Amino acid sequence: MGVFLIDGGIPLKGSVRISGAKNAILPTLAACLLTEGKSVLKDVPDLEDVHTMCGLLTSLGANISFNTIQKEITVDTSHIHEHTAPYELVNTMRASFLVMGPLLARKGRARVSLPGGCAIGSRPVDLHLKGFSALGANINTGHGYVEAQVRGKLTGARIYLDFPSVGATENILMAAVLAKGQTTIENAATEPEIVDLATMLVSMGATVTGAGTDTIRVTGTEQLNPAEHTIIPDRIEAGTFMVAAAMTGGNVLLKNVLPDHLKPVTAKLREAGVEISEELGCIRVKGLEKPKAVDIKTHPHPGFPTDMQAQMTSFLSFAEGTSMVVETIFENRFMHVSELKRMGARIKIDGRTAIIEGGIPFMGAQVKATDLRAGAALILAGLCAKDKTEISDIYHIDRGYEKMEEKLKALGARICRL
Ligand code: EPZ
Repeated sequence: MGVFLIDGGIPLKGSVRISGAKNAILPTLAACLLTEGKSVLKDVPDLEDVHTMCGLLTSLGANISFNTIQKEITVDTSHIHEHTAPYELVNTMRASFLVMGPLLARKGRARVSLPGGCAIGSRPVDLHLKGFSALGANINTGHGYVEAQVRGKLTGARIYLDFPSVGATENILMAAVLAKGQTTIENAATEPEIVDLATMLVSMGATVTGAGTDTIRVTGTEQLNPAEHTIIPDRIEAGTFMVAAAMTGGNVLLKNVLPDHLKPVTAKLREAGVEISEELGCIRVKGLEKPKAVDIKTHPHPGFPTDMQAQMTSFLSFAEGTSMVVETIFENRFMHVSELKRMGARIKIDGRTAIIEGGIPFMGAQVKATDLRAGAALILAGLCAKDKTEISDIYHIDRGYEKMEEKLKALGARICRL
């Protein structure tokens, strides 16, 4: 299952290039289904989840070629003969559910295994399905699958999302671009990855306005054309490296970042006393001996991102003072806490709130990654601990971080993969 061995206590120094965003490449790969022909995606991160999504597209009939040197993927969707996303693929990666909107729009039907829960929560898809039925699809669920069908084309509609769900916004947006007439998505998610998807759809010929705001307007078009699109940098990978520099008292330059996407993380780290300077397309982070405790409450963008909560919980265990972390997005996203406590952290959980007594020196231990960001949090603690930490089940980390140990080694960390 793979293990990381970390011998901590080294301040990270040097520069690191941030990869393309996992949560942008997954929906933009699904969007390729909306057209017939060869689309090219650039600055694609080499992640397990990318390979899983490409495997799914291939099973639907797409022909995919990778240029790993150029970090490009060419997706030929000329012949999509399948409309089913099978259990074993959706079960591996719930983002597979993002093929439902494009398949429904292109083929008039889609049959996707109902994603189960995962470590961080039950993860329902009711808002996705509410959007599809508003667009005129008939929805049937049974035997663990969701089937959506529409006679002819989808019809534009006004859709209000009870919660600004990222996935539901993306799925509905991808269905609406080929629907007849106007669609309005209200209370839409405003994450940068939504904007990136909309940018690609517009380059394919779609008419989309308002992406990045809570109201997205779409005018359906007859057909869309293949496009070339460069993926935005991964703001969560960037945030993770910022915290790594801050916690180890290092001095790290992050390249290929969009500082605007990192505002909530930058603001919180500055509040804790971390020195952060923004240069064109780069961010420099200088750590300090004893950062101050700050309180965190996760919110949909532009609030503090839930995907940075675990990493900040590690940081706050290290910072001076008591802090409070409230996780408002997912019901079970404190799986990293029990593992951090094995490394000496003093954290009490009450429902969706964690009270962290900071100022502790992490001790090396054997710990386990339970999900992607929890794994990242354990790496951060291991980099801080003055002795050896062994992290198992690192396949979770490989799903969302490209060459994590190589990037950290290049910054001086003593980490190896066993
Ligand atoms: C996306 O997941 C990201 N994944 C997640 O990143 C991220 O944590 C999440 O957005 C929130 O920012 C990808 O983009 C591939 P949601 P998604 O729909 O779309 C509830 C990572 O670590 N909800 O915004 O599944 C849901 O239960 C991953 O990179 C419904 O109730 O998130 C949750 O409480 C983890 N009904 C909340 O909304 C629905 O139909 C947020 O979910 C859909 C969601």
